[in-house]
Amino acid sequence: EKGGYEYFMLKEIAEQPQAIADTLLGRLSDRGEIILDEVRLTDQDLRDVDKVFIVACGTSYHAGMVAKYAIEHWVRIPCEVELASEFRYRDPILDRSTLVIVISQSGETMDTLMALRHAKEQKARVLAICNTNGSTIPRESDAVLYTHGGPEIAVASTKAFLTQLVACYLIGLHLAQIRGVMYADEVAAVVEKLQATPDSLRTLLAGMEDVRALARDLKTASTILFIGRHVGFPVALEGALKLKELAYMHAEGFAAGELKHGPISLIDEGTPVVCVVPSPAGRGVMRDKVVSNIQEVRARGARTIVITEEGDDSVKAFADHLIVVPRTPTLLAPLMTTVPLQILACEIAAARGHDVDQPRNLAKSVTVE
Ligand code: M6R
Repeated sequence: EKGGYEYFMLKEIAEQPQAIADTLLGRLSDRGEIILDEVRLTDQDLRDVDKVFIVACGTSYHAGMVAKYAIEHWVRIPCEVELASEFRYRDPILDRSTLVIVISQSGETMDTLMALRHAKEQKARVLAICNTNGSTIPRESDAVLYTHGGPEIAVASTKAFLTQLVACYLIGLHLAQIRGVMYADEVAAVVEKLQATPDSLRTLLAGMEDVRALARDLKTASTILFIGRHVGFPVALEGALKLKELAYMHAEGFAAGELKHGPISLIDEGTPVVCVVPSPAGRGVMRDKVVSNIQEVRARGARTIVITEEGDDSVKAFADHLIVVPRTPTLLAPLMTTVPLQILACEIAAARGHDVDQPRNLAKSVTVE
């Protein structure tokens, strides 16, 4: 049932290109328009939305963080992201024109379910992004967009994360389209790039041998730090979460710009720092900033593991280890840059002799608060 793979996690990582393609399937018209037929909110309801709140836990929360960048960029309405366990005990300001997007692979996460109920009590519209048909969260939501990732067995979320990203992108584009913020040809151009991601991901997955070797090297590190900016920031958080969860190692993700506000003092001779470099296309300034952050940590002794886009050769000089991913538009880049981090965590955990699919103290679905 593991399809020849040693762990479910590796199988699920390998299934990601197909999972993305399946999540996109049937959601695009011939003219490249986005059809969200499971969304039982009228176009008028969606036009009336003046604020989006995304609420989730763990990896699903990281998908929400990426979605915020996409939604604010494309739709031009305010979007906040919050951990479900925090949202629930606050007094967030919500009303009929607030769209609350809850993201959950299992659809049974108690914190997220409670946040959903909290939102509904205040009359907000709730849209669920979920991978499990008929689970509690989609049943209690006003509308659902199912991810078609297929069953995820490993406790660590991988293909669910990438398909959640795809669902978020679709919702963002749909909102932009019906609110008239993006022209049809602009939406179609993004959709075309989205449709190309499964193939790019297949190429990426075929070239991960180096990451495996690197994992064996890093298995005795006392900490691994991850830095990124913009959508690379949630990717850094996700890379650190995977490592904590599976390898039981100390790991932390930071917004690269925050380094000098504290975390840079953690850097010691040989401290591994994984750096997620934004694409030079479109967001060149941001990329340059990350490159100078890499130089800063390196000057303090860090061992840099740099994830960069194909063709961006100038970062080579600052990388002790370079991981190259296929080109993708900035907002879609997490579909690529997350994957080496999943493999890194999985392989480090395996090299340390841990049960990759069933890490200690964790359950696949957290049904208690
Ligand atoms: O089923 P959910 O998406 O609601 O689960 C949320 C988190 O518990 C989950 O993403 C968790 O962080 C994963 N084990 C991370 O790999």
